[in-house]
Amino acid sequence: MTVDERRDSLRTEFGCSSDDLSALSGDPGLTEDSANRMIENVIGRYALPLGAARNFVINGRKYIIPMVIEEPSVVAAASNGARLAKAGGGFSAEADDPRMIGQLQITGLSDLHAAAAALEAEKAHLLKLAAESCPNLIRRGGGPVDMEFRMFPETDAGPMLIVHLIMDVRDVMGANLIDTALESIAPEVEKISGGIVRLRILSNLADQRLARAACRVPAEVLAFKEFDGETVLSRIVEAAAFAEADPYRAVTHNKGIMNGIDAVVLATGNDWRAVESGAHAWAAKTGQIRPLSHWRRDPENGDLLGTIELPMAVGTVGGATRVHPGAAAALRLMNVQSAQELAGVLAAVGLAQNLAALKALSTEGIQRGHMSLHAKQLAAAAGAQGELADRIAAQMVTENHISASYAAELAAAYIKESHHDA
Ligand code: MEV
Repeated sequence: MTVDERRDSLRTEFGCSSDDLSALSGDPGLTEDSANRMIENVIGRYALPLGAARNFVINGRKYIIPMVIEEPSVVAAASNGARLAKAGGGFSAEADDPRMIGQLQITGLSDLHAAAAALEAEKAHLLKLAAESCPNLIRRGGGPVDMEFRMFPETDAGPMLIVHLIMDVRDVMGANLIDTALESIAPEVEKISGGIVRLRILSNLADQRLARAACRVPAEVLAFKEFDGETVLSRIVEAAAFAEADPYRAVTHNKGIMNGIDAVVLATGNDWRAVESGAHAWAAKTGQIRPLSHWRRDPENGDLLGTIELPMAVGTVGGATRVHPGAAAALRLMNVQSAQELAGVLAAVGLAQNLAALKALSTEGIQRGHMSLHAKQLAAAAGAQGELADRIAAQMVTENHISASYAAELAAAYIKESHHDA
């Protein structure tokens, strides 16, 4: 399909409005004025490709998945993984209540236990105080829910008591709400504990806000080229075992998962650094980095079973999700009703991405698929446009000679030929 035909299909299949289609096209996009109000020292705006992954069925509902990414093959792989999962009924996905953790660092204490006990005794009072900083959140059913205490008697800078303020942030990512609440209770925490509050900041290890997804793939749908389904299934299980055993592989396995998740986090205007840092820390929680996803054969009927779990601090309102017209349109396109729903969808996207990568890696390798897109990029970089770029890319793939210099040579030759013909 051409880009226009793809956009038309979003209108007919998903009821995407003309305004949203226009926002997604990037042509009107983020204005310089809005950009100038988003960050400092603005000198321009920066575009990336926005693709739509297909075939996603999550909790029985069909989703189209907007993905912003510079890397070839990711959108195709996500769609491919989703197609395999669809054959087994699609993904099931869910997420915890959107609980974020804020940290207060208390220094200057001689008795950490006594300070923690004093704060524990005033917990209800402190939670009420924190609630006063976020009346809108309370109206939406969220707010401060708990406090926890962690003691570090021997740090390089002396003893520290760390207070965790846990807040249900509903449909926002929550950084601003948490930081405001922490700053609002800090003076009272100093009074009660007798210490000095230094840092007041959200923790990106959002381990009370986990998202999970699972899928089941019948062995026969994994059959591919000369590989039968059973063979592909056992190779995927073998690839997953490699990641369980070896941190060098686990990191790459997880990077592939984040290819999909980050692309959607970015498309929806969310903070992908927050999601990334949470994911990798969660993966390393046992002291060794391990895969975020797990694949095994169902002993009952031989299907491939996949699961994933990771922190997912994302919002559907607030921040760039509102300011950026493309992000707002991407969220409407997905038609997610809450941050919790979005978190589940993101977990499913990560699992789909991982499934496609493991299938390709354990069979024909990823270079063949990668190289044809890479060839298109090289042809475009050599100055070829439209059909000519496709023709040069196809020739490089057929001749198995894909390089920037060959693309430039072919582009020059074709351009010369067309001038000659004219
Ligand atoms: C490339 O961006 C991602 C992969 O390396 C992921 C993986 O190895 O599982 C293909």
